[in-house]
Amino acid sequence: MFLAAAMSLLTTNAALAGPQRIDDSIAQRAVACAACHGREGRATSEGFFPRIAGKPAGYLYNQLVNFREGRRQYPLMTYMVGHMTDAYLMELAQYFSGLHLPYAAPATPAVPADVLEHGRQLVHSGDRARRIPACIACHGQHLTGALPAVPSLVGLPRDYLNAQFGAWKSGSRRAAAPDCMAQISSKLAAADVSAISAWLASQPVPGDMQPMVSPPAPIPMPCGSVPQH
Ligand code: HEC
Ligand code: HEC
Repeated sequence: MFLAAAMSLLTTNAALAGPQRIDDSIAQRAVACAACHGREGRATSEGFFPRIAGKPAGYLYNQLVNFREGRRQYPLMTYMVGHMTDAYLMELAQYFSGLHLPYAAPATPAVPADVLEHGRQLVHSGDRARRIPACIACHGQHLTGALPAVPSLVGLPRDYLNAQFGAWKSGSRRAAAPDCMAQISSKLAAADVSAISAWLASQPVPGDMQPMVSPPAPIPMPCGSVPQH
């Protein structure tokens, strides 16, 4: 039922998505995105659909290009953006990036305290022995991300987070080389991933979700999607 409804919205939107109709209101086009990403892109209770509202525009843009070019794989997303030009994807990215909407309360995960503590530890300190950098070294002390292209790590559902690490490990999510997140994911054991996802998903969203103006310098390893100073 849900999928059928989404598909019919998609078909309507795909028919409109040609560059000849670029003068259409972007808010109107974005309605098709809401079928999955929630009203105004604020996410839904379905754990797998990420929020897109308020994320850095450079990050959203990179993801839309990644879907279009097959570096990320989710067939309905690829279908959505398959015919869209770079300029149009940038418009969509800027539109959603500019929406600052309230976040839902975090879910309390049903996992033992020591698992949550392991997750917290990895996010804040990494694991020197295993050469895993602290996540805050790029995503920021408050995990709100950094301009132009490092996303926040709070306000994301646990199922979505788990799926991303699975996708990096299997190669079905890729970013511009060197792909730092793929390298980091390859060092994380299944127990690390589930601890990190549980801890992140349980964090309250800070009052100020603005990303930092740039990543903390220097970042611990190069990322193709992060311009170097
Ligand atoms: C049929 C459902 C569906 C529709 C419609 C849809 N998306 Fe998505 N989108 C998804 C799913 C599911 C994911 C996560 C896939 C994954 O895990 O890689 C996603 C991921 C994304 C991401 C990456 C988010 C992140 O945090 O990395 C962006 C950006 C995005 N979508 C934008 C859009 C835009 C813009 C539209 C409308 C033009 C749209 N989506 C329409 C299902 C949909
Ligand atoms: C060297 C910098 C760097 C470090 C360290 C880092 N990240 Fe990232 N992370 C990035 C970049 C850049 C992206 C965007 C990748 C892309 O465009 O697909 C990203 C994306 C992500 C995403 C995707 C979010 C979404 O909305 O889809 C998750 C989840 C994530 N990182 C988790 C982590 C965790 C957990 C750690 C610590 C174990 C970590 N990162 C450490 C740079 C970093």
